[in-house]
Amino acid sequence: MLAEEQKNGRHEPEGRTYVLKDEYETARQNEEFFDSTAETYEKHYKLTFRTLTKLVSLLPLGDNPYLLDLGCGTGWVLRYAANQTNGKGEFYGVDISSKMIKLAQAKSQSYGNLHFYKSRVEELPFDDEFFDVVMSTTAFHHFSNPEEAVREAKRVLKPSGKLYILDITANNAFMTLMDRYWRKTEPAHVKYYSTKEFQALFERARLCYVRSKRINLIYEVLIAEKS
Ligand SMILES: C[S@@+](CC[C@H](N)C(=O)[O-])C[C@H]1O[C@@H](n2cnc3c(N)ncnc32)[C@H](O)[C@@H]1O
Repeated sequence: MLAEEQKNGRHEPEGRTYVLKDEYETARQNEEFFDSTAETYEKHYKLTFRTLTKLVSLLPLGDNPYLLDLGCGTGWVLRYAANQTNGKGEFYGVDISSKMIKLAQAKSQSYGNLHFYKSRVEELPFDDEFFDVVMSTTAFHHFSNPEEAVREAKRVLKPSGKLYILDITANNAFMTLMDRYWRKTEPAHVKYYSTKEFQALFERARLCYVRSKRINLIYEVLIAEKS
């Protein structure tokens, strides 16, 4: 694995205890998988939408927020967030799937302050210190290089800016088993992290862990701040 990672130019971060799949192959599989499910995505995950909006109620949307959504899919959470600010702020979404991005753009035409880009979250097309808030909903477990995703989120955050990640966490034997099952059967699945693993990811990126909030039996929100 190490030799393979060196070949791909990857470094095994100090202190990391989990082994992930090949980064670029996983990214390619995510693109393929989400391109193929984009059209029916919102219909299929309708019931999850209420859970996702719970994250938005925690966001500091302030006066004129600059907000980025990592792995934004069809942009439905971003549109929901934009609806809370009466046209104030600028809302950006990135996704590896061009079909998701095209749908997000088509569905957001009536908004003047929503912007979508096809990009990997590990190489964000934004300047340093551009955003007040970076968020991600049910996408982090798909990211092919979680270390780089968190480091990039930190880079584009303004000082005191906050990162909000809503995802399925694996804090018990059942969820760890579910993680193993998905890793074996779904190429686009990378890993469900435990709360402790999220804290370690933040620490290694030099982000301050603020708190976590359990949304229901499987979903949790993890919050970190750039000092
Ligand atoms: C389960 S969907 C979640 C979409 C949206 N956040 C939501 O809550 O409905 C995961 C999304 O992450 C995107 N994704 C996966 N890996 C990515 C990466 N490395 N960079 C950018 N987007 C990625 C996928 O294309 C997909 O649209």
